[in-house]
Order: sequence, then structure tokens, then C-alpha cells
Amino acid sequence: MKGLILSGGKGTRLRPLTFTRAKQLIPIANKPVLFRVIEAIRDAGIDEVGIVIGDTGDEIRQAVGAGSQWGVNITYIPQSAPLGLAHAVKISQEFLGDDRFVMFLGDNVIQGGISPLISQFADSDWNSQIVLTQVDEPEHYGVAELDEQQQIVRLVEKPRVPPSNLALVGIYMFDHHIFEAVNAIQPSWRGELEITDAIQWLVDHGRRVFPYIHNGWWIDTGKSSDMLAANDRVLAEICYEVNGYVDRDSKIDHLVTVEAGAEIINSVVRGPTIIGEGCRIVNSYVGPFTSIHNQTVIENSEIEHSIVLDNSHIRDVPSRIVDSIIGREVEVTVSPIKPKAYKMTLGDNSKVGLL
Ligand code: G1P
Repeated sequence: MKGLILSGGKGTRLRPLTFTRAKQLIPIANKPVLFRVIEAIRDAGIDEVGIVIGDTGDEIRQAVGAGSQWGVNITYIPQSAPLGLAHAVKISQEFLGDDRFVMFLGDNVIQGGISPLISQFADSDWNSQIVLTQVDEPEHYGVAELDEQQQIVRLVEKPRVPPSNLALVGIYMFDHHIFEAVNAIQPSWRGELEITDAIQWLVDHGRRVFPYIHNGWWIDTGKSSDMLAANDRVLAEICYEVNGYVDRDSKIDHLVTVEAGAEIINSVVRGPTIIGEGCRIVNSYVGPFTSIHNQTVIENSEIEHSIVLDNSHIRDVPSRIVDSIIGREVEVTVSPIKPKAYKMTLGDNSKVGLL
């Protein structure tokens, strides 16, 4: 089997972070979501992986390279515009050939990997398998209607009145029959070739499409609250290791990871939390569900349930920072310069919640 990862898209709902970084490269528990997707595919025994890229393609190529760090071969497939998931399949036909494949959205995080799913599909003669999970607001997703035998009756993309609460998770398995489908369908009202319509076409033409109900968690990291939710989930499941330095005046619990070269000085760190390489946490409190990425410094401050990216500096902040996502090379400090006031340089689409 081959793997196909979709990593185009502009990430507009994650601005301003996505002005300077592809959304799939924003780290969750200090590892980009896209790297987690590559690992899930590799762990399922697949070593030929195509990545469909868009405007942020150069950055993705630079971060992922040829795939040798994961022991896979990566082929990049440029998509001229975000014309839909079925369009991405269409332009990947040459790479995929006649192989069965798994398609995975590069900004999705799922509990438990995909190995069981892949082996079920790889050993079958099914034409497609789709992953479904129960969600609270199905109208935001592709939604499946199943009959009493759990067979697919109908699939509909972002329905106003959802026929069920079973959403299509961004993981799909296909054989080569999908190419007939993506070539036959027309763009939807949003101008995209929808994979949901292509799968419906397979069902309508008598192809064997089976559902797999995923009962664990699954997060599509489209907006910042999803990033924090995914960070919570992943932090709760990683293995904790202390490879950095923790001084005698600090207290950290057993759910804390301190990466190499990081220093915790006279501070309290409560897990699940990860402190990245070369960070310095000095006279501070870092609370549960926080990921501090590499080379960031936190001094005389308190932070919890947040993500801070690399090379940022948080110093002398008088109240605790919570529920926040802070980008790279950001400075949050107290300014001694009069007037005594909030002084901010915020990028477009920034959001600040003051006391
Ligand atoms: C896409 C699919 C949708 C699926 C969702 C999962 O939606 O079209 O069927 O439920 O991914 O994340 P989009 O992210 O393009 O709105």
C-alpha cells in the first residue's frame, strides 16, 4: 500500500500563526502534526508516501525532506489551488498507480494510529474503507448514513440537516477505482471536488465501500481551540522523560518531559507538560497541558494549558497566562518605559484576552 497525505490549504482559521508557518507544521506536544501523520503511516508498514502540497509547499519540503528520518520515501505532488480532496487524489494518480492507498489529512490527529485499519483493508478485496466517528456538530463535516447492517446508505458533505452524527474522519482507504469516481464527479457548491461525493459515486456504482467506526479521540486541528485540545490529548499519552537539568529548588512531577539541554531553575512544573530542547524555565510555574517548544525562556511568570513555540521570551508577566498559543520569537514582558500601559505589536488576526 501507499500513503497519500494532503498538506495544502492556507490555514486561515489559524492566523496569525499560519502567516509564517504551514498549519501542518505547528507542533503539538513539540512535534508537528504532519510528522505525527507520517509516523502513523510508517508505523502501519507503508514506506511510499506522497504529500500533496500547495502554497506552503517549500516550507513543507524543507521540514520533511526525502523522508529518510522516518525511513520512508516521500514524493511531493504540487496542487495548483485548493480544489478539493478529490482533486488531490486526481493529481496523484501517477504516483499512486494501481496500488491500494490510505489518504490522510495532514492536519488531523487520531488516537491509536491507523495500523489495525490498514491491515484490515490491505487484506481485503474492498474498494474503499472510510473512517467514521461520532461528533457533536456533524454539519461541519462529511456525514454518513448507515443502515441497520452498518452498511453505507448515503454520504453528504456538510449537510444543513445531518442524517446522523457520524462524521467522516480525514482518513480514507481506496483502490484504483477511486480514479473513475474523481473523474466523474462535478465540483460542489463550494467549488471543490469533494471526496465525499467521489465515495458516494463508488457506492452508487456498486463498489464495495465499508465503514470503520473509530471510538477513540480524533481532532481536526483547524482552529486554535482544536490545537489546544489536540495538545491536551497528545500530552496525556506521550512517554515522559527528563533529559534536561532540573535544579534542587525545582519541583516537577512524573508527567513532565524535559528535553535535552533544557533547564528548570527554582520552578514548579506540573504535567502533562513538555519543555523543549534548550528552554530555560526560571522562577516560574508551568502548569498542566502545556507545551513549550525549543529555546524558549520563561522567567518570573506563570503559564498553563498553553502552547509556546520556539525562541520566545516570557518574562515578569504579572498574571498567569492560560489557554494561549504563542508563536515563534514572541516577547511577552513588562515594560519599564512610561506610560504604564499595554504596549503591543500584534500581527494581523491576533487575539488578545486582557484581564
Ligand atoms: C474535509 C472533508 C470532510 C471531513 C473533514 C474531516 O472537510 O471534506 O468530509 O469530514 O475533512 O476533517 P474540510 O476540512 O475540507 O472542510
